[in-house]
Amino acid sequence: MYENFKRSEWFRNDRFGMFIHWGLYAIPARGEWVRSREQIPDAAYQPFFDTFDPTGFDPASWARAAKAAGMKYAVMTAKHHDGFCLFDSALTDYKSTNTPAGRDLVRAYLDAFRVEGLKVGLYYSLLDWHHPDYPHFGDRHHPMRADVSFQGAEHRFDRYLAYLHGQVRELCSDYGKIDILWFDFSYDDMAGERWQADKLVRMVRELQRDVLIDNRLETSGEGFGSILESEPLPWSGDFASPEQIIPPEGLVNRRGEPVPWEACVTMNKNWGYCAGDQNFKPASMIVHKLVECVSKGGNLLLNVGPDARGRIPDESLRILAEVGKWMQYNGESVYGCGRATLPKPEWGRYTCCGNRVYAHVTEPPIGPLHLPGISREAIRSVRWLRDKSEVWLSGDWMTHGYRGQTFLDVDAFTHDCMLPDPVDTVFELELLTGLCPED
Ligand code: GLC
Repeated sequence: MYENFKRSEWFRNDRFGMFIHWGLYAIPARGEWVRSREQIPDAAYQPFFDTFDPTGFDPASWARAAKAAGMKYAVMTAKHHDGFCLFDSALTDYKSTNTPAGRDLVRAYLDAFRVEGLKVGLYYSLLDWHHPDYPHFGDRHHPMRADVSFQGAEHRFDRYLAYLHGQVRELCSDYGKIDILWFDFSYDDMAGERWQADKLVRMVRELQRDVLIDNRLETSGEGFGSILESEPLPWSGDFASPEQIIPPEGLVNRRGEPVPWEACVTMNKNWGYCAGDQNFKPASMIVHKLVECVSKGGNLLLNVGPDARGRIPDESLRILAEVGKWMQYNGESVYGCGRATLPKPEWGRYTCCGNRVYAHVTEPPIGPLHLPGISREAIRSVRWLRDKSEVWLSGDWMTHGYRGQTFLDVDAFTHDCMLPDPVDTVFELELLTGLCPED
């Protein structure tokens, strides 16, 4: 089985995490790529550094909101592409302790989320648009990529790599146990050994033996890298990170073995705070997508983008609280669950854990509920997960013509033709044997 599989056991159990994109870009409030997209020179970006003063920053409230939503882990930006460090790095002055914020924001985040019992990860950008030794002119993404004054400028990339490796060493040495290190991202020839990935991963593993590393030392959200190959490279990572998409069939490697994966998804359309982006996904959609990820053997990392005051937007908090209400009664059908070796039902999805199959019904049936792929003889019991009340198998006259097919009598649960939980009504089937491959 995939050699790093054991290391990610907790990750494949927890299934649901919070992504946090926060930094200077919250002030222009046009997303985290604003410097690149608008080709903003360092000097024009400097006022955001000089005035970054998140007086409303309360990481304990962030952690409580994540926990109440049913999230089990979190990943926060320690440094994004703009090069601003939210931690007190000895290797730069371009850090939160030198802004009016005046504190190590990473340390405050880690402490607060650990108090709530969540596992903690750090996102670290391989790109750095502030560092003088990162390629500028002609780079595919740098804000100064088209500024001829940088044409022919000397960039000592070796010095940049020493900085990158040095900061990763700081994050892995000075902040306690880190559960996830989320590198972002590789592109063109800026990939793999261009980052001295082998040396970097060796160092990380020496300092944080059990840390999970994503696959973006090799790729970006567009690809997978060698994690899907028969012989993954040493820096292939522990999980794939499909971005703004849920893999149609889940992910397996060339040997047909399941590969851990985590779909990272924004709540609106931006990772970093974007004041004008009110395109928030409703809580019902978040629940459906979380269940879809789990039904395909994966995780959902759902993003929030705190504003320049350090507050998670009210709309994000409202949606998270609504998701949490559903998770309160139905979390058993997510945590520790994965794919079921069953056909996808027309009315929703199956998730599976050991000998329990969870029927996630998002579309109420006409008459009894058909259970594709499950024989009556295999079922020990059926319960409505919310209150564990008994659910009967149906022998109603209208099912008589479908020999060998199994149906649930859900009529007792329907009111006004709707099942009790219009978002997703979950029935728990205890079977005599298991139907879950190791995901
Ligand atoms: C992309 C974006 C980056 C974001 C990441 C999240 O790499 O460039 O801004 O942090 O996706 O997955």
